[in-house]
Formats: sequence, structure tokens, C-alpha cells
Amino acid sequence: MGQVNQHISQLREDFMKGELSENNLNKTPDLQFEQWMKDAIDAKVNEVPACNLATVDKNNKPSARIIYLREFSNNEFYFYTNYDSRKGQHIAENPNVCLTFFWPELERQIRIEGVITKKAEVEKSDAYFNARPQDSKIGAWSSPQSRVLNNREELNTFIEGNKTKFNNQEIPRPEFWGGYIIKANYYEFWQGRKNRLHDRIAFTLENGNWKIERLAP
Ligand SMILES: Cc1cc2nc3c(=O)[nH]c(=O)nc-3n(C[C@H](O)[C@H](O)[C@H](O)COP(=O)(O)O)c2cc1C
Repeated sequence: MGQVNQHISQLREDFMKGELSENNLNKTPDLQFEQWMKDAIDAKVNEVPACNLATVDKNNKPSARIIYLREFSNNEFYFYTNYDSRKGQHIAENPNVCLTFFWPELERQIRIEGVITKKAEVEKSDAYFNARPQDSKIGAWSSPQSRVLNNREELNTFIEGNKTKFNNQEIPRPEFWGGYIIKANYYEFWQGRKNRLHDRIAFTLENGNWKIERLAP
């Protein structure tokens, strides 16, 4: 432990790659998000759509995991998962969620807070599911996501069972699998700066308008 703790306690990255100023900020957060997404794609950031999804259960206990953002527009963010998973359970109990992106190559972080308004339209979930490779479709059918397994063999048995069942036919989307839509009500754009004096600009939805504020780093 000693060496690892010594290493992590001494990490001192200075962030120098950019600035975020009110002068070059887009007027709405979804445009700002789109611009930073484009920048991340252009910069060939690793795992651009990967973000941390935080949920809270009925006892106010938080939990977080990485997911892939698959679509966004008009302050709505789509991701796909198993509705019976732990996160699905939390969302059923409490629709408040938070997404966090970290793109080290650009020294940028984006925080998005919002509410899961509904499940994605079945047409969208179907289209996304249908575009997945055959083995991923089998995987979605075979994994009772977040449940305890006795061992890896048990999962393999589910997979083999579904391969036999579907036997190279078209595989439909399971009802327990699909998209969720997060409607954002808060965004924070973070650009790393020298000496930990980072730029942070927040957009908060208030009475249908976005209030823009600079936050201390
Ligand atoms: C890069 C990356 C992307 C992931 N994308 C998804 C995703 O889009 N949907 C999903 O259900 N799980 C995804 N996962 C797996 C989740 O992190 C998590 O293990 C799983 O959803 C179960 O979470 P839960 O038990 O909290 O429901 C991803 C993991 C990683 C590391």
C-alpha cells in the first residue's frame, strides 16, 4: 500500500490546455455540450461517450457506474441498459440522476444533472438494439444484469441456451432492456487551469431560462 499511496498522493498534474470564458461560451448549454463533444471527437479522446451515471435509491443511498451516452438533443440524453438492473431499480425509486464526463486529453469535465423523465420510445430502443452485433443481442438476453451469479458457468449456460433458442434467427429486443431519457436541468463545464485555478461555468434552468454563473474552482 505504502508505495501506491505515496504515488497517488504525489501526483501533481498541472492543467494547461485551455480556458473557458464567458466570451467564448455558447448561449445555451446544449450547444456548449455539442461543441465540447465535437472537440472531444476531433481530439480523438479515448471513450468519448463514456460517462459516470450516478443514481440514488429509496434510502438516499447513492451509487455510480460508467455507461455510454448514445444520443442527445434539446437537453435530453439517452442511454441504454437493462431496466431490471440495480440502476434501473434506483431510477424506478428516484428519477434524479447525474452524468459526469471526464476527457483527460482536453482537461475537461462536464457535469449534467437531471431527471429521468421516461423510458426511451420503443422505436428508438428497437432501432438501437437492432443495430447491435448478434452476440451483444444474445448478451442482453442472457445477462440478468446486477443479479448475483453462482459462477461464470451459469452465465455461459444462459448464453448457450439463448444461442440455441434464437438459432441464427432475428433476435428481438427483450422487454427488460432499452433506453432511458435524462432531461437536464443543470450543466457544469469545467476546464482545467494552472495551479488548480480552473474555469467552471454552470447553467441552471430557472423558470424556463438558463441562468449562467461562474463557480470558484
Ligand atoms: C466504458 C463502459 C461503458 C459501459 N456502458 C454501459 C452502458 O451503456 N449500459 C450499461 O447498462 N452498462 C454499461 N457499462 C457497465 C456498467 O458500468 C455497469 O457495470 C452495469 O450497467 C451494471 O450497473 P448496475 O449494477 O449499477 O445497474 C459500461 C461500462 C464501461 C466501463
